[in-house]
Amino acid sequence: MQGAANRQKNGFAHLDKGRCAFYCFSIWYKWGYGTDPGEKERQGFRSCAARIICCAYEFMLEEKDMEKKIIAVNAGPRMGWNTETLIAEASKGAASAGAKVERFDLFRLEKYTGCVSCFGCKREKNKGRCVCRDGLTPVLDAIRAGDGLIIGSPNYLGELTASFRALYERLIFQNLTYDREHPCCNERPIPVLLIMTSNAPDTSYLGLLKNYQQVLTRFVGPTELFVSGDTLQLKDYKKTDWPWTMFDPDQKKARHEAVFPQERQRAFELGARLFAE
Ligand SMILES: Cc1cc2nc3c(=O)[nH]c(=O)nc-3n(C[C@H](O)[C@H](O)[C@H](O)COP(=O)(O)O)c2cc1C
Repeated sequence: MQGAANRQKNGFAHLDKGRCAFYCFSIWYKWGYGTDPGEKERQGFRSCAARIICCAYEFMLEEKDMEKKIIAVNAGPRMGWNTETLIAEASKGAASAGAKVERFDLFRLEKYTGCVSCFGCKREKNKGRCVCRDGLTPVLDAIRAGDGLIIGSPNYLGELTASFRALYERLIFQNLTYDREHPCCNERPIPVLLIMTSNAPDTSYLGLLKNYQQVLTRFVGPTELFVSGDTLQLKDYKKTDWPWTMFDPDQKKARHEAVFPQERQRAFELGARLFAE
């Protein structure tokens, strides 16, 4: 709206993007290769060129405003492995639907903690904002300003990682008011994709994931789950110091080769669908 008003002010109310680009090209060409038309025309040309360039700038700002910003958070430590790969695929899917993705790797941030129970977020002036300043602050700020969240974690000892939990505590608690009438102060719900990978089969942690889904949906936005179970944990299980008899290395490898590529594809499609809407 602001862009249209500014174009009108510049005398180009009905200028469209294509024509604006053509005029910009003409200005560039005339500037570089045109003959000098004399002082009077030169002034007219300059003023017209300035107004056209302002319009082009407005178009660029409009385009940027329309772009969705998706925050991708990797709560696992291993780059290029199961969790990170699926997060990357979902991010590519979101990007393919026109979103801009900003990525955070929790294991590579400055030092941070979970909620320290300072209750700063329970003061009117900080409502919905964690006031603790550390490595997680830029992540929380980005999620608050973003249009969607992709967050993934491996399962560690029946839970999501400690890094995931640190972010989760602060992300949820800042939006929890303790007011019976309005328990959540998040006025801008965003779609969330929660990815978990585990050694155990896909269905082993459904209870845990349903709980996360419920809480995230309530305090951040509508949440979808994506689980990749029975993952390949090592490239070569034969190189371990003692036999890892809990696993069948051949079965793990076969599953990784047959099923994981399909999961990558599904994660891509989910990212494209969730963040295009
Ligand atoms: C410290 C630790 C604890 C784990 N605990 C579990 C567990 O309780 N249940 C499970 O299914 N897998 C468990 N795993 C396996 C990982 O969840 C699984 O291999 C996951 O896919 C690893 O993700 P990544 O390849 O992205 O690192 C554990 C792995 C580690 C390193």
